[in-house]
Amino acid sequence: MHVTAAPRRADLARELADELDATFTAYEVSSFPDGEFKIRVPDGLDDRTVLLGDLRPNERILETLIAADAVRQAGAEERILAVPYLAFARQDRAFEPGEGVSARAINQALGTAGEALCTVDVHAKRVLDAFPHEAVDVKAIPELAGALDGRDVDLVLAPDEGAKQQAAGVADHLEVPFDYLQKTRVSSTEVSMEPTEKAVDGSTVAIVDDIISTGGTMATATEHLLEAGAERVIVAATHGVFASGADKRLDDAGVEAIIVTDAIRSERSAVSCASALARGVRRLLPG
Ligand code: R5P
Repeated sequence: MHVTAAPRRADLARELADELDATFTAYEVSSFPDGEFKIRVPDGLDDRTVLLGDLRPNERILETLIAADAVRQAGAEERILAVPYLAFARQDRAFEPGEGVSARAINQALGTAGEALCTVDVHAKRVLDAFPHEAVDVKAIPELAGALDGRDVDLVLAPDEGAKQQAAGVADHLEVPFDYLQKTRVSSTEVSMEPTEKAVDGSTVAIVDDIISTGGTMATATEHLLEAGAERVIVAATHGVFASGADKRLDDAGVEAIIVTDAIRSERSAVSCASALARGVRRLLPG
C-alpha cells in the first residue's frame, strides 16, 4: 500500500505510512503564472493508496481533488482519503431558507475523489452520511490525552454537550474526573455558558473540544473556570483553525497553554494525529 501527500505534509504522511507499513511517495505541486497549479505523482502507486487530503485553506480542497485524479492516473483504483480535518462540516443543515449545505457539498465532492474516507473528530458523525462510499471517523483521544499527561490536570471539562464523548475519553485516559458545560451559541463569535457545579478551586482544568475556531468557546469557558477559582486552564482540541483574533482572545481569557494536533498544519500543531488516522484507515481495510 502507498501513502501519498503534498511535500508540506511529508512528516505526517511518513508517520502514517510507517504506522500502516506502507510506502510514502510525495506528489509534486507546481504553479502556473495565473495562480493555477498542477499535480504530478512521480512514480506508479499501488492499487490501494491512501491520499492524505488537506482541506484548509480553501484552495487545498481543489488541490486534494486534482491530486486524487493524479493518484488514479498513477494506478490506484482504490483511493482511501485520509482527511484529518473535514472543513466545511459545521454547516450541516440549511439554517436559513435558500442556504447550501456545505457539509453535504464537500462530502459529495470527496466522493468523486476517493472510494473510502477517514476523518478525525469530524464535527458531527452524521455529516459523513453524505459521503457516497464507506466513511469512518476516529477520535484523537489518546493523542490529546498523551499531550496532557504530565501537566497535573485535576479535571477535564467539555465546553458543551457535543464534546462530551471526547472529553470524557481524555479524562478516562488521564484517570481524572470529567464534567461538561451547557453552552448556548449567541452568534458566530459569541457563546454563553452555565457555570460548572464541580469544585474547581485551586485546580488545573483541561478543556477538551473538537475545534478551536474563533476561540470564543474556549475563552468563555476559561473565564468561567478562573472566576470559579481554577488555578490553571489548559485548552486542548483536535483542530486548531485559529480564526483571526483567536490567539488574543485565548490569551486575554487567561489560558495557560493551547494544545492542538497537526490535523491542520500550523506552527502550533505539536501533537501528531498520524496514529488516529492509521486507526481509521485500518478500519477501512478488508478483513
Ligand atoms: C461547536 O459545536 C464546536 O464543538 C466548537 O465548540 C466550536 O465550533 C468552536 O468554535 P469557536 O472557537 O469559534 O467558539
